[in-house]
Amino acid sequence: MEIVVSGIRPTGELHLGNYFGAVRNFLRMQYENQCYFFIADYHSLTTHPTPADLHGNVRRVLINYLAAGLDPDASTLYIQSDVPEVTELYLLLNMNAYLGELQRVTSFKEKVRKQPDNVNAGLLTYPTLMAADIIIHKAHKVPVGKDQEQHLEMTRTFANRFNRMYNVEYFVEPQAYNFGEQLIKIPGLDGSGKMGKSEGEGNAIFLSDSPEVIKKKVMKAVSDSGPTEPNQPKPDAIQNLFTLMEVVSSPETLDFFNEKYNTCQIRYGDMKKQLTQDMIQFTAPFREKINEIAADEAYLKKVVNTGAEKARESAAKTVREVRQIIGFRSF
Ligand code: TYM
Repeated sequence: MEIVVSGIRPTGELHLGNYFGAVRNFLRMQYENQCYFFIADYHSLTTHPTPADLHGNVRRVLINYLAAGLDPDASTLYIQSDVPEVTELYLLLNMNAYLGELQRVTSFKEKVRKQPDNVNAGLLTYPTLMAADIIIHKAHKVPVGKDQEQHLEMTRTFANRFNRMYNVEYFVEPQAYNFGEQLIKIPGLDGSGKMGKSEGEGNAIFLSDSPEVIKKKVMKAVSDSGPTEPNQPKPDAIQNLFTLMEVVSSPETLDFFNEKYNTCQIRYGDMKKQLTQDMIQFTAPFREKINEIAADEAYLKKVVNTGAEKARESAAKTVREVRQIIGFRSF
C-alpha cells in the first residue's frame, strides 16, 4: 500500500484551484492508500496572521476539507502544529539545506517581491518544513497542483542527501501526483495565470461562495471583444475561461462554446452566464455541507484529536529512527 501525504495552508476558504489541484486527488486516493492530510498552520506563520485569524482559518479549512468529502475514518486528517515532531525533523533537515539552493526557490523569490518588509527565515526554509511534512510519514505520493512541483523536487533532494550523508536507504523519494495526469494549474478570473487567495478580490471562486457572489465574480471576469478571424489561438484571459469551463461544465457545453469561438460567433456574456450556472451547480453540495459541519463542534473536536493521535504515532517513529541514524543515542 502506498503512503500519501498532502497539506493546505490555512489562508481561508478552499477555492476551486485547491479543489481541482489537490483535494479532488486526495478523495480519489483515500480508500486505496494510507493517506495523511493536514492543515499547514506552522507554514502560515510566515505571513504573520493574528491568533484569531490563524485559529479561524484552520477551522474553516478543516470544515472545507470535510465538506469536500475527506473521510477522517479512512485517512488521517490532522493539524500540523498538533504534531510537533515535524519541527524536530525540520531542524535536522535545515542543517543540510544550503542558503544558495533555498534562495533560488521560485516561491521564495515571489514572496520577497510580495512582502519585502517580512522576508523571515521561515520563508527561506519553507521547503525544508514542507519536506519534513512529507518524509516524516515516508510518503510515496503527494497530490498537489503544478505550483508545488519545485517544492517536491527539493523534498527529494533533502531526502536523498540525508540517505547519502548517513549511508542509509531510509527515506523514499516522494513524487508530486495528479491522478494519472500532468500536475494542473487552475487559472483565476482576473486574467492572471493562477487562481489563488492572495491574487486579489474576485480572482478565486471559493467552495463556500453563495450563488450571488459567484455570479458577480464570473460576470466581472476579464475577457475581450472576441475573435475577428476563425480558428485563432485564444488569448490568455479567454483560455482561462475555457479552462474553468473544462473543469465545471459538461463536454458538450465546452464543445458548444469552442465552436462559437472558432466561428467568431461567441458572446462572452452568454459564456459567462453558462459558466456561472455550472459553477453554482458544482459548488452547491459543498456549500450545504460546510454549513452543516460548521455547526457540529463535537464532531470537529473528535476529528482533530483522532487525527493528531494517528499522525503523531507515525511521525514519532520516524523521528526516533532518524535520531538513531544521526547518532543521538541513549547512554
Ligand atoms: P497551498 O495552501 O497554496 O495550496 C494547497 C493545494 O492547492 C493547490 N493549488 C492549486 N492547484 C491548481 N491550481 C491552482 N490555482 C491552485 N492553487 C492552489 C496547491 O498546489 C496545493 O496542492 N506549500 C503548500 C502546503 C503544504 C504542503 C505540504 C503540500 C505544506 N506542506 C506538504 C503538500 C505536502 C501550499 O502552500 O499549498
